[in-house]
Amino acid sequence: MIEDVLVADPPADSVDAVRHRLRAFLDRHRPPTPCLVVDLPAVADRYRLLRRLFPAAVLHYAVKANPAPEVVGLLAALGASFDVAGVAEAELCLRAGAPADRLSYGNTVKKASDVVRAHALGVRVFTVDSEADLLNVAALAPGADVLCRVFAFPTAARSAFGRKFGCEPDLAAALLHRAHRLGLRARGVSFHVGTQQLDPRAWEHGIATAARIMATLAASGVHLTTLDLGGGLPAGYRDGAPPLADYATAIGESLDRHFGSAWPEVVLEPGRAVVADAGVLRTEVVLVSRKSYEDRHRWVYLDVGRHNGLTETEDEFITYALATARDGGPVGPVVLAGPTCDGDDVLYERNTYHLPLDLAPGDLVDVLATGAYTASCATVGFNGFPPLPTTHLGASGEPVR
Ligand SMILES: Cc1ncc(COP(=O)(O)O)c(C=O)c1O
Repeated sequence: MIEDVLVADPPADSVDAVRHRLRAFLDRHRPPTPCLVVDLPAVADRYRLLRRLFPAAVLHYAVKANPAPEVVGLLAALGASFDVAGVAEAELCLRAGAPADRLSYGNTVKKASDVVRAHALGVRVFTVDSEADLLNVAALAPGADVLCRVFAFPTAARSAFGRKFGCEPDLAAALLHRAHRLGLRARGVSFHVGTQQLDPRAWEHGIATAARIMATLAASGVHLTTLDLGGGLPAGYRDGAPPLADYATAIGESLDRHFGSAWPEVVLEPGRAVVADAGVLRTEVVLVSRKSYEDRHRWVYLDVGRHNGLTETEDEFITYALATARDGGPVGPVVLAGPTCDGDDVLYERNTYHLPLDLAPGDLVDVLATGAYTASCATVGFNGFPPLPTTHLGASGEPVR
């Protein structure tokens, strides 16, 4: 029961303790593979940790990271707000118990009909980055709050979003002005430093930019109240990331530098950092093979790959940590690949992975920190492989009903 997860506010379990719990469940029950197990107490822990580290921020969980109703319902009960990417996610949040006034529509790419439907559902906060979308919001969601997304440059993100979202600061200022004149509430500025951001200082540029835009608008009588710092907070993959506390310190320092003691309302939209570390994906070795007599690399084919859960291995941009029951013995280099008949379904070839030399078909491999951007990114049946089944564990360490 989700209520069991909510009653306590225990000290957060370490990432290792969570992994141990999930792997113990998988060992006890041996479900068919591949399968994802998500630990709801760990999701609650991570959410509470972020609340402690960023006490001045409003947390809008980015639903896209893991839209499972169990996860969204838990976070709604914990008081979270939600960043939704579209109408379906808004409906999901409402069904899970989140009131409409805790939803913001963060996707800047939307149809007019999406605005109409979101507005009818009660969504009143929209992010825009273009004149066309702004005019739709003004016409179809009259009086709504509007944030404008600006480019966030630099960065050490594992996936920077490039120029798909956002606009130049001078255009953002003009759009916010226009929003004000159109009778919308010009609410603030947003940006996203790229997901799995490994540099805690990456928010500095966006915060400085937002402060300039806010000062420009204030000079003409439009007072923006909100600064949305987007997502980007990291999870613990194979190659590590700085502690979240370092991000809180760096972001706080940037806010002090650019806003002094008069911080705006600060919004964070964490996705990965809330759910990734709460998941373990168990997979089975299908085949181990060699491509030549000379090459030391074995090819290890798993029953999960790019299309049925590990989408974020595209370009090898997320390097998951792996664990097997044979760990501790001698290891050798491997190339890891998925099970489909698709040549792109290779997980790691550039990044060197080492796995036990005695690894054999039928052995189980656990892919760690897989609670974010996995099950929901799986295809519905490419090559006949179904979406990734997921089990959610409650405080008892057993599935919630
Ligand atoms: C608008 C927006 N906010 C938040 C997020 C969540 O990012 P992350 O999972 O890196 O925290 C995303 C991810 O794509 C996003 O597009």
